[in-house]
Amino acid sequence: MEVVLLPTPEDCGRVVADAVAGSVSAALNRGGPVVLGLATGSSPLLAYRELLRRHREEGLAFDGVEAFLLDEYVGLPAGHPESYRHVIRRELTDALGLDPALVHGPDGAAADPLHAARAYEAQLSAAGPVAVQVLGIGANGHLGFNEPGSSLASRTRVKTLTEQTRLDNARFFGGDVAAVPRHVITQGLGTILGAEHLVLVATGHAKAAAVAAGVEGPVTASCPGSVLQLHPHVTVVVDEAAGSRLVRADYYRNVLGHKLAAQGW
Ligand code: GLP
Repeated sequence: MEVVLLPTPEDCGRVVADAVAGSVSAALNRGGPVVLGLATGSSPLLAYRELLRRHREEGLAFDGVEAFLLDEYVGLPAGHPESYRHVIRRELTDALGLDPALVHGPDGAAADPLHAARAYEAQLSAAGPVAVQVLGIGANGHLGFNEPGSSLASRTRVKTLTEQTRLDNARFFGGDVAAVPRHVITQGLGTILGAEHLVLVATGHAKAAAVAAGVEGPVTASCPGSVLQLHPHVTVVVDEAAGSRLVRADYYRNVLGHKLAAQGW
């Protein structure tokens, strides 16, 4: 696991963009289909803006890239402004020029969400592997919508949100927690581990405990983010606030400056 501790959220955005662009370009150069794993939420937004800038100003290519989301609310009608499929098109993929038919997410509006979850897992495994998966982390350590207690081997399925997560996400629903769905479809932790490269970004003090537990604590279902320790290729990018409870902070501050060029991402 490579942990990169940087001064500001803007620095994190640039480095996450570097890591994502590096993995996508390497996959495009190998030829064949490229699958990009995307997260919603506020954490990756600065990185997405930076990727868009590079696409517009520097010609960073995403031709033919297919995108898969981590998760989706159950019960929001298709096209709801806070449905994750809608959010990711608005924040990133439309402006990157990705064909909406190649931007996939679980079907949270399906009459049978359990079936929709299994269908999404099958669709992802037929298209995959994901070349690079962008991740945020919840204040309680959740990855995707895998709340604490989720099996480290879980696959895509329906989950019930904790009240903490519903409160955290009420800001996207005009502050009305009652409007936040109780159920979601999320890739499982085992599903997420199937990506070739995992890039997690976290900024702000509210994430400090989750980052410390995920990166330096024991591997446990009580902190879903700790599952990253089982993956061979992980980049964790945090700002000083989110990294403020990391014991090895000095080491993480020095990683980037002393990287061998050949190491890449
Ligand atoms: C949300 C999403 C996650 C996200 C996390 C953190 O509920 N399902 O994919 O990483 O919680 O959100 P944010 O980045 O807005 O803090």
